[in-house]
Amino acid sequence: LINRSEKILNVKSININEKLTKFTEHWSPKVIAEMNDYQFKLVKVQGEFVWHDHKETDEVFIVIEGKMVIKFRDGEVNLGKGEMFVVPKGVEHKPYAEKECHIMLVEPKGVVNTGNAEGELTAENDVWI
Ligand code: NI
Repeated sequence: LINRSEKILNVKSININEKLTKFTEHWSPKVIAEMNDYQFKLVKVQGEFVWHDHKETDEVFIVIEGKMVIKFRDGEVNLGKGEMFVVPKGVEHKPYAEKECHIMLVEPKGVVNTGNAEGELTAENDVWI
């Protein structure tokens, strides 16, 4: 730990694959880092999520392992390992993965995973691993 202008800097790298071993549940994003007001979250997904949108922000999906589809009302985008997509704010979307897929999300702190469609799949925020 380095004390630089009163902020403690953790000089240990963040290993994405190691972080992915720390949880098993689906549709429950875990925070691994913050940059300014943004968070980097890992999430494991399988099956269908709910239709929702985020009125206040775009949402970044980066596929770490596996394949997923982001469905839109008028089309869909297929994402494989190493591919990413930015869902524009206010656009309805429904993530789907036939088999388990590991994703990194980048979005502002406080974004609710189900957006305007709170319910069973709404996950707790700010859960760090
Ligand atoms: Ni979303």
